Amino acid sequence: LREHEEFTKVKNIATIELGRYEIETWYFSPFPPEYNDSLKLYFCEFCLNFMKRKEQLQRHMRKCDLKHPPGDEIYRSGTLSMFEVDGKKNKVYGQNLCYLAKLFLDHKTLYYDVDLFLFYVLCECDDRGCHMVGYFSKEKHSEESYNLACILTLPPYQRKGYGKFLIAFSYELSKKEGKVGTPERPLSDLGLLSYRGYWTRVLLDILKKHKGNISIKELSDMTAIKAEDILTTLQSLELIQYRKGQHVICADPKVLDRHLKAAGRGGLEVDASKLIWTPYK
Ligand code: ACO
Ligand code: ZN
Repeated sequence: LREHEEFTKVKNIATIELGRYEIETWYFSPFPPEYNDSLKLYFCEFCLNFMKRKEQLQRHMRKCDLKHPPGDEIYRSGTLSMFEVDGKKNKVYGQNLCYLAKLFLDHKTLYYDVDLFLFYVLCECDDRGCHMVGYFSKEKHSEESYNLACILTLPPYQRKGYGKFLIAFSYELSKKEGKVGTPERPLSDLGLLSYRGYWTRVLLDILKKHKGNISIKELSDMTAIKAEDILTTLQSLELIQYRKGQHVICADPKVLDRHLKAAGRGGLEVDASKLIWTPYK
C-alpha cells in the first residue's frame, strides 16, 4: 500500500541545495510532514541533515564538523573515495540519504529500517572535504543474492561514468565475498541502461581475450555477475545458440568487435587493488 501511495503522490520538494549545487528534483519523497510546505530544502552536504531555510543551513555549517560521510573509507584512488556507512551505526545519516535519494528514484519504496543496509557513498575529494557524487545501498544479508538495492548518481554528476563505477564496485564487493550478485528489481530505465552497458562491456572484454570455449558458469565465476544476467545480455547481443538442450556461446571475433564499438564508454575504472574491505558478518 505504501508503495502505491508513493507512486501516486504529487511531487512536493521542487529543488534542493547540496554543496555547491542547486538540483531540481524528479519525484516525490516522504519527508516528515513539517517539511512538506517547502518548495526548497537545504542539505548539509556532509551529514545530509536538511533544513527549510538558508540561514539554518549557514548556522549548521559553522558547527557541523563532518567533512566526509560517517563510516570507513574503504577505497581511495586519486580524488575518488568510497565510504562504507553502516545504517545501524549511523541511522540518521542513512535515513537522510534515503530521503534525498527518493527524490530521484521512482519505483523504490523508502526503507525506514536502515539498520539492515550498508551504504556505499562515492565522493570527489578536495581541500574543502569529500563531496558526495552518488551511492548505492546493499542489504547486509540478502536471500535473493542481491548485491545492490538502490543506486543513484546525483544529477549534476550523471552521464560521466560514475554510475558504471558504482556498479563495478558492487561486483568487486561480491567477488571479495566469493558470491555472485544481481541488482534488486525492478530497475528504472536509466538503471537498466547502465546495467546493460556494464554487463555488455565486461562480458565482451572477456570473450575477446579468451581463447577457446567458455561457459556461462565460468563467466559468472570470473565476474560475479549472476548467470541469468549473463544469459540475457549475451542473448540480446545474439551471441547465444541453443544446441542439444544447452546454451552455447558463439563468439565470432568480427561480431564481438562490432558490439564492442557500439558498447559505449567503459566508465570510470575501479582499481580493485585499492579496495580495503572485509565482508560484513
Ligand atoms: N540517456 C541515455 N542513456 C543514459 C542516460 C541518459 N540520460 N544516463 C545514463 N545512460 C546510459 C548510457 O548507456 C550510459 O553509458 P554511456 O555514457 O557510456 O553511453 C550508461 O547509462 C551509464 O552511464 P554512467 O555515466 O556510468 O551512469 P550515471 O552516473 O549517469 O548513473 C544512474 C546511472 C545511477 C542509473 C543514474 O542515471 C541515476 O542515478 N538515475 C536516477 C536513479 C535511478 O534510476 N537509479 C536506478 C534505479 S534501479 C536500482 O536502484 C536497482
Ligand atoms: Zn552537517
